[in-house]
Amino acid sequence: MTANRAHHDVRALILAAEGDAEQAVREVGAERTAALLVGELVDRADLDEVPGLDQTPITVAFELAFDGGAVVHHAVAGKTAEHHPGAPAAAHATIEVGLLELLRAVYGNWRAPGCQNLRIRWNDIEDIEALSSSMHVFHVVQRLVRGTTDHRADLSELSLRNGSDKWGLHYYTPHYERHFAPLRDRPLTIVELGIGGYGDPAAGGASLRMWKRYFPRAVIHGVDIFDKAALREPRIHTVRGDLSDPAFLASLGEEIGPIDIVIDDGSHYCPDVVAAFRAMFALVRPGGLYVVEDLQTSYWEGYGGSSVRRDDPATSMGYLKKLVDGLAHEDHEAGGVEPDETARTLTGAHFYRSLAIFDKGVNQEGPSPSWIPRTRMTYDEMTAVEWGGDGLRADSGE
Ligand SMILES: C[S@@+](CC[C@H](N)C(=O)[O-])C[C@H]1O[C@@H](n2cnc3c(N)ncnc32)[C@H](O)[C@@H]1O
Repeated sequence: MTANRAHHDVRALILAAEGDAEQAVREVGAERTAALLVGELVDRADLDEVPGLDQTPITVAFELAFDGGAVVHHAVAGKTAEHHPGAPAAAHATIEVGLLELLRAVYGNWRAPGCQNLRIRWNDIEDIEALSSSMHVFHVVQRLVRGTTDHRADLSELSLRNGSDKWGLHYYTPHYERHFAPLRDRPLTIVELGIGGYGDPAAGGASLRMWKRYFPRAVIHGVDIFDKAALREPRIHTVRGDLSDPAFLASLGEEIGPIDIVIDDGSHYCPDVVAAFRAMFALVRPGGLYVVEDLQTSYWEGYGGSSVRRDDPATSMGYLKKLVDGLAHEDHEAGGVEPDETARTLTGAHFYRSLAIFDKGVNQEGPSPSWIPRTRMTYDEMTAVEWGGDGLRADSGE
């Protein structure tokens, strides 16, 4: 299956989880849907945190009722966590639930309380020695079922679990949490520039996996100059290209389409940061966000920055700071900023240490009304003001 097909299937199921789930399952296929859903539960289960599984692997079958029958898929929690189609030779426990119900719980709006009709069949404990492995089974099943509920870890915790430096080396995650939390349950398209791991094709992807976990309904696209196809998984797509290449930047819109969140964690070289913003802010949907990380490099000569030419728009911070004037373009008097598309669609700019977050929307509130004085009032003028509120109270007889 091509990466695009896989990406299309998962996106179709995410969108259908709130709508015609049955039709989407028929289009994607019941077996493929089961594989995606069980895979997602395995991802969300953090099974590496259950001790002892490398000695005693645990197998859990899923019997997913659909169309008068059941699709069977199974998860194996051992040294690694895996999942496979079909029934296992022997299962320690079996989870029974409707395929459509599971789809709604996994890819629907995650405020749902989980599956109402989920049943667990435990294997029989034949002797007391089997009791300890039964506790393992319990812990594995408990964690697999957790993925159907609205239980969720915060972003700093997910950063630690996935080995991302977005908390601990940098302290971005609390800022992200503030801006991202209202979007968490939406079926988003997220693009992160810079996957990590540099020339090692198997390394990197820590933050892609963190975003996947934080946003349970999002499809995450990572972009890197190196081939990172080995890191693809359902809901994680990778694109190879050089962010210094204007033709590649221009092609990203076609490849990915409209975007809800862009996170620039790429080369951090000032000309690349500026070129990426120029090309990609336009691709962000209204209500979306554009984030630039590691802005310390804007002050470093080795990255095309400068600690002296701090307002030079050739540096990342020099360029981004100027956007604030565009944000306020409707307040300017003669000689102010002539608004371009960025100024007309920028609705917020938030600067933190080494991090900036920009809101996309419609920046056309109109200028302040003409009756608001354009020169500072004198004390006497302020004293002479008859405040409308008092008049109103007098009129209403209070
Ligand atoms: C800091 S790492 C990304 C880390 C990742 N976002 C995370 O938080 O886990 C930067 C990545 O950007 C990639 N990169 C550097 N220059 C690039 C360029 N010109 N175009 C595309 N990717 C580039 C590197 O290969 C590296 O993998």
